[in-house]
Amino acid sequence: KEREKKQLWTGQDAAGTLERRSGDAHKGDHGRGLLIGGSAAMPGAIQMASKACLYSGAGLLTAAFPSSAAAVPAGAPPEVMMLPLQEENGYFSREVQTDDLSADAYDAVAAGPGMGRGKGAEVLVKQLVEQAEGTLLLDADALYFLPEHIEALQQRRQPVVLTPHPGEMARLAGVSVGEVTQRRFSLSRETAVRYNCCIVLKGPHTLVTMPDGTQTINTTGNEALARGGTGDILTGMILGMILKAQEIQPAVSNAVYLHGLAADLAVQHEFDSYAMASTDIISYLPPAFRSII
Ligand code: APR
Ligand code: MG
Repeated sequence: KEREKKQLWTGQDAAGTLERRSGDAHKGDHGRGLLIGGSAAMPGAIQMASKACLYSGAGLLTAAFPSSAAAVPAGAPPEVMMLPLQEENGYFSREVQTDDLSADAYDAVAAGPGMGRGKGAEVLVKQLVEQAEGTLLLDADALYFLPEHIEALQQRRQPVVLTPHPGEMARLAGVSVGEVTQRRFSLSRETAVRYNCCIVLKGPHTLVTMPDGTQTINTTGNEALARGGTGDILTGMILGMILKAQEIQPAVSNAVYLHGLAADLAVQHEFDSYAMASTDIISYLPPAFRSII
């Protein structure tokens, strides 16, 4: 029975489930996303995530960041709407209110990349878990605060997606990193149920686990992804693809699949897994999407 709930996620699965745009589409049909993160020290996380989000289907995207993360407005794609928020020493201020983010105006909200673990980030995560109306995606430093919010997560009606790497997963589950790698299937199931969240456990063969225990194992990706920023790109992609998704699971599994496929194509056609940077993977998103037929 356990076995039936676990499947490889292949190009055929992607082709069968990837949602496409219709000819009479309106930008609102493709969703309004909000991406929260960044800091003076890590402005690039939001730049990479926003660009990847735009290239993964988003209709409208707003990026919220601490106001002095000045490199964000300078380096983000021009399509992104900017929401500079109150800050303290380059990180989100503890005074930041999600009212500023009017979360009900968005189909989905993603938070975490580059935002650090300061008091402001802690307050923001609590507010999002308790109040954000749409689908919620939490990554990176946003995951750090979640063990305190399991009850609030249990009560949420809208889906929540968590994207930990093994170190972040160890903290969520309260186990060692060694245990994460030794029993990633059973641990992911237990944690997805306990948090009432979809858990994307990253690494080679990224594992997507739904709160009902269903699991998909990714079949794309390579060592070119083992560099800073590729997780931020994945966060942007998942946000873009869950905005208007009929179902969360195929949208998340497809984002993971296409992220890996973009890295595979980048290495096959142009780059070398040593000699490239994370942003080069974003430029392979269009051919990755095009190859799904
Ligand atoms: N093969 C295939 N995929 C890989 C491999 C590999 N050898 N190594 C890494 N990946 C993929 C993972 O599956 C994941 O999608 O690359 C991505 C790495 O994501 P993260 O670990 O989140 O990396 P990063 O973007 O640097 O995170 C930025 O967030 O997680 C925090 O501590 C991290 O502050 C840092 C920030
Ligand atoms: Mg990360």
